[in-house]
Amino acid sequence: MSDIIELLDGNRNWVRSIKDINPSFFEDLAVQQHPEYLWIGCSDSRVPATQITGTVPGAIFVHRNIANVVQLTDYNMLSVVYYAVKNLKVKHIVICGHYGCGGVLAAMSSKSFGFIDGWLSNIKNVQRLHQDQLDTLATQQEREDKLVELNVMEGVRALSAVSFIQEEWKLGNFPKIHGWVYSLKNGLITDLKVTADCPECVVPQFRYEIDEK
Ligand code: CO
Repeated sequence: MSDIIELLDGNRNWVRSIKDINPSFFEDLAVQQHPEYLWIGCSDSRVPATQITGTVPGAIFVHRNIANVVQLTDYNMLSVVYYAVKNLKVKHIVICGHYGCGGVLAAMSSKSFGFIDGWLSNIKNVQRLHQDQLDTLATQQEREDKLVELNVMEGVRALSAVSFIQEEWKLGNFPKIHGWVYSLKNGLITDLKVTADCPECVVPQFRYEIDEK
């Protein structure tokens, strides 16, 4: 039987298991956070950033939304990215999609999902941009998987077009923006090898003139 109390019981058990290994874990972490990574992932319950990367609380700053969409008018996402880049000084930003993503599948269908349609239109636009490439694929499964990957790649491209990230690149090649995809079927992450870490990685239309400081 499922009950909300199981979450609280789970919490107590988790605290005990952590303290068994490191008695001062919580006291140490309560002082401050120094995450080196920002994770932008899907809200899907099967893709929790910390567990699937084998890391502990304190390692990853996280933003999640339906289908890990990177949209530059999303002030929630941008505020998280700004804080992570400017204040926490994260070294890496990972945009991680996952095969079988319900949001991507919904965007590929012609079904209306009511209020969510507006959000899914971001993915429909990725599909529209890359329709020719998707049409070359033989099966629906291949097209779905490819759109998951393209959605991540477009996310990397969109984040590269953020002026305050380009400002950081003037000072060094951080943060590096990575595009990954997680497989629900075997738990493994694939690096799409589309890492962006320099102004030259940005398409000309989105490259800003950054003043030397
Ligand atoms: Co998803």
